Amino acid sequence: MIPLKRRKVVPTGAGNTGSEETSPNKFPQVVLFLLERKMGASRRAFLSQLGRKKGFQVEELFSEGITHVICENNSGDEVIAWLESQVRGRGRATAHLLDVSWFTESMRAGRPVEILDRHQLQQQIREVEVVVFSAPSYACQRRTTLDNHNAILTDALSLLAENAELSGEDGRGVAFRRAAGVLKGLPEPVTAVTQLVGLPCLGGHSLRVVKDILENGASCEVEDTKQSERFKVLKVLTGIFGVGVKTAERWIQEGIRGLQQLQDSGRTLNRAQQAGLQHYEDLNQHVTRSEADAVAAVVEEAVASVLPGARMTLIGGFRRGKLTGHDVDFLITHPEEGREVGLMPKVVSWLESQGFLLYQKTTKNSYLEGEDGPARPSSNMDRFERCFSIFKLTEEVNGEGLKPWRAVRVDLVVSPISQFAFALLGWTGSKLFERELRRWAGHKKAMSLSSHALYDNTQRRYLRASSEEEIFAHLGLEYIPPSERNA
Ligand code: CTP
Ligand code: MN
Ligand code: MN
Repeated sequence: MIPLKRRKVVPTGAGNTGSEETSPNKFPQVVLFLLERKMGASRRAFLSQLGRKKGFQVEELFSEGITHVICENNSGDEVIAWLESQVRGRGRATAHLLDVSWFTESMRAGRPVEILDRHQLQQQIREVEVVVFSAPSYACQRRTTLDNHNAILTDALSLLAENAELSGEDGRGVAFRRAAGVLKGLPEPVTAVTQLVGLPCLGGHSLRVVKDILENGASCEVEDTKQSERFKVLKVLTGIFGVGVKTAERWIQEGIRGLQQLQDSGRTLNRAQQAGLQHYEDLNQHVTRSEADAVAAVVEEAVASVLPGARMTLIGGFRRGKLTGHDVDFLITHPEEGREVGLMPKVVSWLESQGFLLYQKTTKNSYLEGEDGPARPSSNMDRFERCFSIFKLTEEVNGEGLKPWRAVRVDLVVSPISQFAFALLGWTGSKLFERELRRWAGHKKAMSLSSHALYDNTQRRYLRASSEEEIFAHLGLEYIPPSERNA
């Protein structure tokens, strides 16, 4: 409802009721106009009368003589639009646009109170309506739950990250992942690119993509990438367990475009790739939480059978609370240092003897603490005793004609108890969160963090920890629980 359409401008004072309760105009430099819009006619009449009683000049109709426009529950933009329709062709209105709080405070004071920022409609509304987001720059300083309010934007940026990684442009990939990471943590949906001014990690390229999506509903670059033949083929080929970007590239150069062609080509595949191709469909179907629990029960039994007292912990995405994953990850340890040695081959033999393994590859522990600190982070990623495997998981419910089992990727890691907290932190993820933790350690603290240890380069010594909380404390970071590491 717009109660005051373009009416003829009438002389000031016309609105005075002339009732005996009206005091003489005590403040000649103040001429009030109360906007009925959203305030309502009866409240407006009541407040107008109150104003006059207190000696204010309150006008019924809008005119150029008005100095203060009083509004309730209107946005600045709505009032400006209305005002401009009133003074059209006669220059801009120069009246103060004020919230009703200025009016009520003035009534209480018995005089026009000083106009403060909070009384000014325009500013007040801008702050309330358009949230300008802020965030610290390292993902490990932020709390990122699975409650993503900007999935459309982050999916787009993640796709560009994936495309960059598939093209060997890792630097660009990280930049897109960081940008997506920042948006994942925002408390509400982004509606305008101006809200992102001042946020870290959002470069020109990422902002352009966001702007396109906000304004046009989609980004050409993202849509083109999705449709691109090269991207589609690379996704299919690297979707085979055991096939990395390099191998996929080589096959593409040799003219291979799909799974059937690969199979027909007679290429020699390694053991992992053979298994990957054989179970392609299963392995590209998300693992559910209940399937993860079923795998956990099997691993638990295996561990308990071969080494009573050994402990098993769910790690990776499921520890962060994800409802699905591309695999299931477990960390195994024993409370007595050294008892975990040789554990992995025993667990694997037990699983194999029970028919649970379709494929496995075990890597020995090669981690040694050097005199001058751990090796570079890139080279000490792979040093735990661990096992990449494909489980044959028997499904609880088998419909008619469905096969009675499915293939599921499972990662097992064994760590000595002295390194358990570091392994737990390092294998819980997300990958971006881990990367950012190591970057924080290096750049901000002159420390080297790995899944084995934390080394202080200034003190030239290892910092021990028996819990994740202690590691965050060593790093000078607030503790972030797993469910908030979903950057
Ligand atoms: N990781 C690692 N070294 C590897 C592979 C993985 O340290 N060679 C770590 C990753 O940094 C991550 C964790 O193991 O923190 C889990 O990795 P992964 O299973 O790939 O990812 P998830 O976060 O579990 O996601 P998903 O649900 O897709 O499995
Ligand atoms: Mn995982
Ligand atoms: Mn994994």
